Amino acid sequence: MTNADFEKIVETSDEWIVTRTGIKERRIANGMASSDMAVEAAKKALEMAGCANDEIGIIIVGTVTPDYRLPSTACIVQEKMGLPNAVALDVTAACTGFITGMSLAAPLVENGQYHRALVIGVEKLSAFTDYTDRNTCVLFGDAAGAAVLAPDSNGSGLISTYLRSDGSYRKLLWAEVGGTVEPYSPDFAYDGRDKIYMNGADVFKVAVKEMCNAALKVIENAGLQPSDVSLIVPHQANIRIIEAIAKRLKLGMDRVFVNIEKYGNTSAASIPLALDEANRAGKIKPGDYVLTVAFGGGLIWGANLLRW
Ligand code: ACO
Repeated sequence: MTNADFEKIVETSDEWIVTRTGIKERRIANGMASSDMAVEAAKKALEMAGCANDEIGIIIVGTVTPDYRLPSTACIVQEKMGLPNAVALDVTAACTGFITGMSLAAPLVENGQYHRALVIGVEKLSAFTDYTDRNTCVLFGDAAGAAVLAPDSNGSGLISTYLRSDGSYRKLLWAEVGGTVEPYSPDFAYDGRDKIYMNGADVFKVAVKEMCNAALKVIENAGLQPSDVSLIVPHQANIRIIEAIAKRLKLGMDRVFVNIEKYGNTSAASIPLALDEANRAGKIKPGDYVLTVAFGGGLIWGANLLRW
C-alpha cells in the first residue's frame, strides 16, 4: 500500500507521512498467515547457511501477530518446514522480538545445548491494524526475516547484548480487547479496541532515550567506541528516531541502514529484513561490528552488537 492509497481511506497526505515517518510504502500479506511468511524467510535462511532441516535444535519466533492464540507460531513453522529435532516457541516482545530471540538463542548454541538455532521475526500487523485510525494505520506493514545461528571459533557472532522492559508503559502501545482481561464475547460491538492503539508522541520520547542508552550500553560492554561500529541496523519505526540515534552516537547516516520507506514498521521483522538487505547490498564485510537496536510495545527495548 502506498501513501496515495491511504489518502483515499483516512485524512492524511503523502507529505505528512513522509516528513513525520519516512514511510512511502508498506507490504500487506493478503492470503498469508504469519507462519507462511515465516516459512518463506526461514527456508531462505537455511539455504544461505547451508544448514539441513534436522540440524535445527531450537526455533524461536518473535511475533505479536501469531497464527493462533494456541499453539505457538513457532510450532506451526516447525510442522510446515519439517524440523524434526527442534523445540519451538514464540517470544512476545513486539518490535524487540528478533533481538530478544537472538539474545536468548545465542548462549544456547554457544554452550552446545543446541547445534543450530533458527530465529525468526515475523508480523502480520495488517491483521491488527485499525484502518480507520490515521494515527496508526499509515505506520505498519507485514514482513518476515530469519537467521540461523551456528557455533563459530573466529570471534564472530553476538558479542554483546542488552534488554530491558517497563510494563508501566503498557497502555502506550497495546491491543486492549481479545485477551483474558476483556475477551471477545458474542455481544462485542466493534470499536477498534482489539486493534493496535498507540500514543505515538509518548512512545517516541521513550524510544529515542532508551534506544540510545541500549546502543551505548552494548558498545561499552564490548569495550568498544561508537566509532568502531561499521553499520547500525535499527528497528525501522520512524526515520526521526533513527536519525536521533545516529546523532547521539555521533555517527553519520552513511553508517545507518534505512529501508523504512519501502516497508513501514514491520515490528519483529524489521531488523532481520534490514540486516538481509544490507548484507545483500554488500554493506557488511566480515569482521565488521554491526549494531542492531529496537524498541516496542511492552514497553520493551534492547540492542545486540554483532561481529559479522
Ligand atoms: N496524517 C495526518 N495527520 C496525522 C496522522 C496522519 N497519518 N497521524 C496523526 N496525525 C495528526 C495527529 O492527529 C495530530 O493532530 P492534532 O495535533 O490535531 O491532534 C498531529 O498529526 C500530530 O500528531 P503527533 O502524534 O504529535 O505526531 P508525531 O510527530 O509524534 O508523529 C508518529 C506521530 C509518527 C506516530 C510518531 O509519534 C512516532 O513515530 N512514534 C513512535 C512509534 C514507535 O516507535 N513505535 C514503537 C514500535 S511499534 C510496535 O511495537 C508494534
